[in-house]
Amino acid sequence: MPKSFLIKNQSELKNIAKQVLTKKPKLLALTGPLGAGKTTLARVIGKQLGIKQVLTSPTFVLEQVYQLPKNSHYQYLIHVDCYRMKSRAELPALDLEHWLSQEKTLVIIEWADKIKSWLNKFKPTWIKIEVKDKTRKITL
Ligand SMILES: Nc1ncnc2c1ncn2[C@@H]1O[C@H](COP(=O)(O)OP(=O)(O)OP(=O)(O)O)[C@@H](O)[C@H]1O
Ligand SMILES: [Mg+2]
Repeated sequence: MPKSFLIKNQSELKNIAKQVLTKKPKLLALTGPLGAGKTTLARVIGKQLGIKQVLTSPTFVLEQVYQLPKNSHYQYLIHVDCYRMKSRAELPALDLEHWLSQEKTLVIIEWADKIKSWLNKFKPTWIKIEVKDKTRKITL
């Protein structure tokens, strides 16, 4: 059953990130319009996993790989942004099959709906962000 949360400020994302991580997901597929807060949520999740550097939008590089501290459940966080992806020919470069076959790896994909049918075979956890006025509705 999908669960929705209404949030009014970024500090509430911490709680959402915690909820998401308790299930020890391997693949998070984020959807939502421009500026919805996909990168922001990815950043909060990354921070919770112990990433010290600021997680920035991987818009121009498609994919960024972060190594996580030894005490984390995960060893790597892979942050992908499909916004500028022009065609499916770019999919193999993401090396998703490889990353998802790794034990301690979490992959987070922004604009995941652009590759929805391809992605569904990996059974992602979909996270939808909707914005209305100043309120965000996040559905897990
Ligand atoms: N939960 C939130 N509450 C309030 N403001 C937020 C929230 N999440 C994000 N923002 C603000 O919205 C703006 C856009 O956020 P962000 O870059 O994370 O969106 P995005 O969905 O990744 O955008 P893009 O589609 O360009 O990738 C930022 O200025 C951020 O501070
Ligand atoms: Mg973004």
